[in-house]
Parts: sequence; C-alpha cells; structure tokens
Amino acid sequence: SYNGLNLVPQMGWNTWNAFGCDADEELLLSSARHLVDFGLRDLGYNIISLDDCWSIGRNSSGYLVESPIKFPSGMASVISRLHDMGFKFGIYSSAGTFTCARYPGSLGYETQDAELWASWGVDYLKYDNCFNQGQSGTPKISYDRYNVMSQALNKTNREIIYAMCNWGNDDPYDWAYLIANSGRMSGDIYDSFNRPDDRCPCTEAPGCAWPGFHCSIMNILNKMPSITSRTMSGYFNDMDGLEVGNGGQDDNEYVTHFSMWAMNSSPLMIGTNIDTLSPQNLAILSNPAVIALNQDPSAGAAIRKWRYFVDFDDYGQGEISLWTRVLDNGDTVIALLNAGNSSRTMNATMDDIFLDQRTAGAYKAPPELSETWDVYDLWANRMSNEEAQAILDGGGNATVSNATRTETYNAT
Ligand code: GLA
Repeated sequence: SYNGLNLVPQMGWNTWNAFGCDADEELLLSSARHLVDFGLRDLGYNIISLDDCWSIGRNSSGYLVESPIKFPSGMASVISRLHDMGFKFGIYSSAGTFTCARYPGSLGYETQDAELWASWGVDYLKYDNCFNQGQSGTPKISYDRYNVMSQALNKTNREIIYAMCNWGNDDPYDWAYLIANSGRMSGDIYDSFNRPDDRCPCTEAPGCAWPGFHCSIMNILNKMPSITSRTMSGYFNDMDGLEVGNGGQDDNEYVTHFSMWAMNSSPLMIGTNIDTLSPQNLAILSNPAVIALNQDPSAGAAIRKWRYFVDFDDYGQGEISLWTRVLDNGDTVIALLNAGNSSRTMNATMDDIFLDQRTAGAYKAPPELSETWDVYDLWANRMSNEEAQAILDGGGNATVSNATRTETYNAT
C-alpha cells in the first residue's frame, strides 16, 4: 500500500446509488444509526461516504463551503458525531473544475481542499473525473492530475483513504496503486443484472448524456479478468457501489452480485436505503462468510477459468462461468455462475478448479482423486427472513449468526 492504508478492500455505505444528490446530515446520521443497530458496522461497514452535491461554492479565502441547508450543523460537527459512532467519514470531489453534478471541483485547489477536509476529520476521499479540462487521454496525464491530490492528502498527515474514480480511463490498473487505494474500473453501475441499457450501454455511445454509460453487473464483472493481476493489498479495482436492495434485481441476482464483488476483492460500499432495508437484503449484506472472503488478507482477485455463452434471454444475454480464488490459508474458493435464462446443472472438474493458478502467481497441482475435501457452502447458513426481521425490529439486541455449515465430500 502506497500510504499504509486499505490493506483489504474498504467497506461502508455511500449515498449515490440510492439517493443521488439528495443527501443531508439527517440521512447520514440516521443511516449510521441503522448500520450500528443492524450489526452492519460491526461486520465491517465502517465508512459513511457522502457523494456529490454537498457544497455551495468557495468562500473568499478559496475554501469549499458545505450547504447550510443540507448540513445546518456544519460538516465538522456531523463528522465528529459519526466518529463518535465508530465510523470513518468519506467526502467526494472531482479532479476537474466541477464535479459530475456540476458542483465545485478540486482541480487547482488540491492543497486547500485536502487541508480543509483534514481539519474537518475526513478519513476517505472519492475523487471523480468530471470536467477534467482535457487532462486525460494518456496514463501520464491522468497520473499527474490524480497524483496532485494524492500528495496533498499525504501532506495533511491525516490518514485518508484515497478512492480514485476515473472509470478505468487511462489504464489506472498500471499505475494507480502507486498513488491511490482503489480505482473505479468501469462506467457507473446501474441496478440491472445483465440487461443492456438501450440508451446508454456500458460503452461511450453517441447520443448519451455525458458521462452517460450504465454498466450492468455482468458488464462490470466481465471486465475484471483482463485486470485482475492489478488487484493487490492496498489497491483494489473498484467495481462500483453495491446495488443490493435497490429493487432492480431479484434475490438470486443480488446474491450473485454481492458474491462476485466479494470474490474479486472489490470495495463493498452499500448503496441502498438502510432505513428501509428488507430482511432478504440484510441477510445478503451481512453474510459473514462472504464478507470474510472479501476481506481475506490475500487481497487478490478471482480467476475466471472458463466462460460459455448459453441459454440466451430476450436481450441476447446468457452465459455460465467458473471462477476460483486462492485464500491466504491455502483454501480455494469456487464460484459457479449461472447468468443464463434458466436453472441448470454445472460441472467443474478438479482440473478446472485446481490447475493453472498462473495468473495468481501460484501453481497448485490437482489433488489426488482419493483425497477428501471439506466443502463449505458460503451461502448455506444465510440468515432466514425471520432472523433478519428480528434484527431489523430489535435493533442492537439481535446478533448475526456466524456459523458456517461444513460438509465433507469425496473428491471425484
Ligand atoms: C460519477 C461517478 C458516480 C457518482 C457521480 C456523482 O458519475 O462515477 O459514482 O459519484 O459521478 O455525480
């Protein structure tokens, strides 16, 4: 890690996916309270990350000013209350003259902004790419632009996690680990499992409102295999905030979304309304086994061993794939992903699973066929709706059941 921070992917809650510009201090504080009450803070979701639209401009000394309507107590006071509740606080800006929603950006004001945020007690910065004045197009130009803020943050002597958000432009996979703790690798997520957005698909299409690209879960996931070797302790490919809970996908799809983000060491930033969380979605977000996979000290991404196009739906989407990942203790995690249109039996051979860990830098011979393996189903002990509802009703009195069922199979 370039600054000693973020050795495993950051976890928390971010305002953008569910609330867009409509975030104020009430929302931050009530969401924080519920994260505590529902056990989510203690499961690791310990950053409250405020996104775009919080400032009204700069004062005569050039310092950013928070909206007095949205933050009547003042940002420093809100942050101090969040700290008292055991959270880190994340702010947002852009490496441009404006943010993406046309609020003041930080380009040219990096030192001042970093100083102000540090004085407020900010612990995390999401730093966007809008209105960058043409300072993009080559890795070097973007590196320099994002590095100015990286240096400014370092100079504050406050520990501030630096989450770059340049949508994977200019190949951040090759350089961003030198100056940042995570980097967005795609356009903006939208709450669809695999349906292409007709107006603005996950490529920059003519006629789209800029930045105007909307990436489904499968769009984002399938970009990962080409950049996995760039995932490392202290720098993670950010697959964007979670959509779990926002209503555009069914339960199986949200389980898959959450599993694959965990499997690929993506940051896990909840992006839904915590105040109205359903038991089903609480059960997904608080699965301790899947969180442990995400937070494993190996800090590596998964390898997609194979992928076949099958079973197309009306949108021409349908595929199955096998993903594996080796954990710090030598265990192997396997994800069999069915993104087809119907249920099906999927086979994975021992070679599929164990051979060829080259991309992960490790080679493991397939086990002898007579060997016996302990197989853990990371979703087997998912909380029931009744258990989850009790947690939602009972606030801090209920606890998340932590057991993982173990089953022993003979390898064949
Ligand atoms: C960009 C980012 C999003 C969000 C918005 C805010 O689109 O990629 O994650 O921060 O800006 O305007």
